[in-house]
Order: sequence, then C-alpha cells, then structure tokens
Amino acid sequence: MGMVIIPQEALSHGLPLPHEEAINWCSQLEEGNILFFPQTPIALLQDDIHFLLTLEQTSSGLHKNLAYKPALDRVSGADVKGADPAASERLHRILREYSQRVTEFLAGFLSPYQARWQLDYGSFRPQEEQGRDLPLRRRNDLMHTDAFPTRPTHGARILRFFNNLHPTRPRDWITGEPFRALVPQFAPEQIALPREQSTLTRITKKAASGAGLGRALPALKRSPYDDFMMRFHNFLKENADYQARGKREAWFLPPGSSWMVYTDMVPHAVLAGQYALEQTYLVAPEAMVTPEHAPLSVLEAMTGEKLV
Ligand code: SIN
Ligand code: FE
Repeated sequence: MGMVIIPQEALSHGLPLPHEEAINWCSQLEEGNILFFPQTPIALLQDDIHFLLTLEQTSSGLHKNLAYKPALDRVSGADVKGADPAASERLHRILREYSQRVTEFLAGFLSPYQARWQLDYGSFRPQEEQGRDLPLRRRNDLMHTDAFPTRPTHGARILRFFNNLHPTRPRDWITGEPFRALVPQFAPEQIALPREQSTLTRITKKAASGAGLGRALPALKRSPYDDFMMRFHNFLKENADYQARGKREAWFLPPGSSWMVYTDMVPHAVLAGQYALEQTYLVAPEAMVTPEHAPLSVLEAMTGEKLV
C-alpha cells in the first residue's frame, strides 16, 4: 500500500493504454494506492496558472474553495459575483477545460472505467491548508475517508484526480491503512456497523411518504451504506486516538505533479499546501476490477446484509 509512480514511458505510446496495463492501474487504485504522475499529464498554460494564483488579490471575497459543477457547467462556492465579469468568465473556462481534459485523459488511462462513472464536482483550492479555521467535521487536516453529506453514492466509488499548481511548494498529505484493514480495528458498536435498513430510516421514510415528502428530502435517499460512510467519516475525524496514533505515511506532492486516489477507501488528510485543482468521479461499483476491495463489499461481507 502506498504510492505507485507512473513512469513517463507509460504514456509515451499515447492513449488508450493496452487493456492489461489499464487493468493493472485500476487494480492498483482499488488496492488503496495513490497513482502519482511526477509531471502532470494535464498541464495548464503558465498564463492560466498565473491567473489562478493571483485571483485572490484581484477578486475580493474570493476566499473559499471554488466548485465547478460539470452537469450544470457552473462555478459556485465563492463570491465570484463580486469579481469582474472577464475574470469570472476566464475562471469558468479554466475549470471547464480542466474537468474535460482530466475526463478525456482518464477515459484512455483507466479505460475499464470509461463511461461507467458519473462526473462529480471539480474544484479549485486557493487557500493555504495549514491552520485553516474550520469546524471539526469539515477539517481536511484530520485523517478521514470521504463521504458527501448531500450526495450519497449508493456504493459508487469516490475517485479524485489532483494537480498541485503551487509554483514552489509541495502539497503535504498523510494517508493511512485502507478501508478493509481499518474498519475491523474498531469494535462494531463503536462505529455502528450498518444494518439492512435502520428502524429510524424506515419510520422517517414512512412519515415522509405520508406527508408527500419522500422525494423532497435528499437525506432520505441515502442507503444504509451511505449512512455508514458518513458516520465513519465523522468518527475518524472525532477519534483523537486514531488521529494521534493511527498508522500513516507522509507524502510531499510536488509542484507540477498530479495524483489520483480512491478517497472513500484511503484515509487521508492535507496538512499544508495551497492552490490545487481537483476533479471527482463517482465510479460504478460494477466497473471495479477487484470488487472485493470496495467499501460496499467489505461492509456487506462483515455484516451479511445488503446495504444499498
Ligand atoms: C480532502 O479530500 O480531504 C482534501 C484533499 C486536498 O485538498 O488536498
Ligand atoms: Fe477528503
């Protein structure tokens, strides 16, 4: 477990990769490795990088992570409204192109997954990660596995692709043992292992459908799997002992590099760094080349229940 460095030669014959090679990279990811590109395959124009690095000074109020929503082709999450229209338009174009280029690249690099993912949000992360003042459950400098409060995946895998755009500094990450090794280290009641359908969910569903709200409440669309993944995310961040003593490895992801990882199975935290681009994919569980490693399979095997 750890990091797999993708040699430059792996890309020298173009994409798509031969099937066996693509299968190998997929299975490395599914084992819980970070796939690392010392030189990003998604290089941006120097001019565009400069624009992103100076955005904060030119657009007051622009201080949060910016999300790009490919399905809507829209940028949100910051006061882009306050920015001048030309800058907003340029930001939009850069994020749109990044998302499209990463998607095109992965379609050829991870061809077994191609068209079997849902394009989730992209983001630009302009803030210094060290010492950010965030509520505990939103802190990214505490080890956690990813789960999205408003976007249940129903077993789909969370795959993220990153670029470090900082001109000189690495992005400092730590990662821990993957899901299948980690979960059994805790007592089942400590982490509240999921059951087929909790009484609470049943009651709430019934009440909601009675009130005609069944479709209106997004939280109800969560499966027992999603409930668990959300709980586990919170549990890890709130577990001081795990934060202090859990097994970990440190990675210093250099400027100009890219990496990707299944963040739903690999506990991770970003300790320092600034200016990253990222695109997220929700990969269909059926596309896995080693389905037994997926969090859903691990949980279903542990509990003997269907969880989606
Ligand atoms: C995270 O997914 O926890 C954040 C990773 C990063 O921004 O580098
Ligand atoms: Fe995360």
